[in-house]
Amino acid sequence: MALIDIEKLRVTFRTRAGMHEALRGVSLTMGREKVGIVGESGSGKSLTGKAILGLVPGHATVTADRLAFDGQDLLTMPPRQLRQIRGRRIGLVMQDPKYCLNPVLSVGKQLVESGLAGGIRSKREARKKSLETLATVQIDDPERVMRAYPHELSGGMAQRVMMAMMVVAEPDLLIADEPTSALDVTVQLEVLRLLDRLVDQRGMGLVFISHDLRLVSQFCDRVVVMYAGRVVETLRADELDKAQHPYTRGLMECLPTLDHAPGQRLKVLERQAEWVTP
Ligand SMILES: Nc1ncnc2c1ncn2[C@@H]1O[C@H](COP(=O)(O)OP(=O)(O)O)[C@@H](O)[C@H]1O
Ligand SMILES: [Mg+2]
Repeated sequence: MALIDIEKLRVTFRTRAGMHEALRGVSLTMGREKVGIVGESGSGKSLTGKAILGLVPGHATVTADRLAFDGQDLLTMPPRQLRQIRGRRIGLVMQDPKYCLNPVLSVGKQLVESGLAGGIRSKREARKKSLETLATVQIDDPERVMRAYPHELSGGMAQRVMMAMMVVAEPDLLIADEPTSALDVTVQLEVLRLLDRLVDQRGMGLVFISHDLRLVSQFCDRVVVMYAGRVVETLRADELDKAQHPYTRGLMECLPTLDHAPGQRLKVLERQAEWVTP
């Protein structure tokens, strides 16, 4: 059975200027694989992730022919059950750990709580699991970091703690929304490699949301390309060169390559009105 099964998902916001259809019929099916969602800012990547988590803002209207996680209909699910799925079965890693970590609780306390919410039976067990998970995300001194508070951590460390918090509950699916965009390029790759290993080791599914086509194709099996609230193309990561849609082709032509001559200008993507099909 598919882990995620979305058909014709629409999200509409009522604005002062009228109705704004932010997602216009998104369809996506995935199993325990790594799927990247790319597209420019505002194309609907985050909303797609939020819809899976049941976190679309209340003032929006969500409709779909199907919106299911592991065979369960998310649209009709009671909020309590939805929260349980969020805690136990789907984890979310975001760009800014500040919104995930509670500033007034120690790292250890938060990890243990996350583990307990995820179904670990005892505090003792959750603590043990937390220490192990911190070690997996390459935190050198897990005991010390457990006692630390979020503001005492560097950006890269906070990011790893957040990942640990998400996987300590052993979810089936991880949604990573621009998880490393706020980090230095060097730390970025390191964190992504870790994330990749965690996903592989635990056999989780991964939705990796990014505006960076190259990064996504490096870490994912499949790439879903979004434009103006629609999926315009889905490709195997190793077959990006077979891209048909002009927007995807445009994105690829704008990527600098290693043999790119210095001083030579990179192409600038020119958007066409006809890409936004009604
Ligand atoms: N809380 C909100 N209120 C109104 N409109 C929103 C809200 N969140 C998102 N949108 C609209 O949905 C579109 C897609 O947003 P989003 O999924 O966050 O894009 P991105 O691809 O950059 O992650 C945006 O262009 C915006 O117009
Ligand atoms: Mg976004």
